[in-house]
Amino acid sequence: MNPSIQAAPARVTVQIRPAGSRAELHEFSRWHHLAGVPQSRPAGRNLVEVDDAGILATGLTRSYAAEKLNSLTVPGGIPTVLAARTMALVAVADHPIGGLSVGPSFFLCAQMTTQGPATVLHAALATMKIHAVAVKPAWRRRGIGTALLRPALTIARQAGASVVYGQFNTDTVGLTEFYRHSGMDVSNPDAPLHMNALIDLPAVITPLPGETLFHRVVNQ
Ligand SMILES: CC(C)(COP(=O)(O)OP(=O)(O)OC[C@H]1O[C@@H](n2cnc3c(N)ncnc32)[C@H](O)[C@@H]1OP(=O)(O)O)[C@@H](O)C(=O)NCCC(=O)NCCS
Repeated sequence: MNPSIQAAPARVTVQIRPAGSRAELHEFSRWHHLAGVPQSRPAGRNLVEVDDAGILATGLTRSYAAEKLNSLTVPGGIPTVLAARTMALVAVADHPIGGLSVGPSFFLCAQMTTQGPATVLHAALATMKIHAVAVKPAWRRRGIGTALLRPALTIARQAGASVVYGQFNTDTVGLTEFYRHSGMDVSNPDAPLHMNALIDLPAVITPLPGETLFHRVVNQ
């Protein structure tokens, strides 16, 4: 994957690609902070650590999902699956100007533990959460956020995930429009997302007060 877009008005070429260095992964603290994610500082560190361990984004294929679903024991357990199914994309002009991180949610998987290990694994393989997407303020409204979301959805579909979802602060101006622009189904503010209405997963995603959920089914 190496798409690029021409970001108007200066017609600067912006590349969208997986983060390729420790420095780019460390920048995810910034992207998570801009996106208002609590605990944004460790975000970059965690990505560096799982990349150093050789796991980050190594499980983004259908065959990985099928193989793990059929195996009774997963080497490294669920944390390894989460890291392998996580990707970090950057938008780069002459320097990084935006980033997106997406992967299965630890909290959703933890919520599934009462259902048994097979359901936890299913949640880790069938769902992907947009943890953060952010563009530097000076570069907004040039299509870069959309250009980050597009390959994230494509890669999730190719990886055999069923649903991509996320949440945002309802009061933040423009996010309903932004996610709808990328074909996301935006829920009513504070409304839960019933995964079992979309896929075979007995999970309910409950937003915090003041949050709005969005989702897109990428594989039926
Ligand atoms: C959300 C964000 C990533 C959007 O990035 P972007 O590069 O500006 O988005 P795009 O240019 O691709 O916008 C695509 C469309 O979304 C809609 N949109 C985006 N920002 C908007 C805003 N502030 N107000 C209204 N509509 C908006 C528009 O329809 C826009 O198309 P248009 O510019 O042709 O009208 C960026 O505003 C940002 O970094 N915000 C801070 C971080 C954040 O809140 N992230 C989301 C929570 S995880």
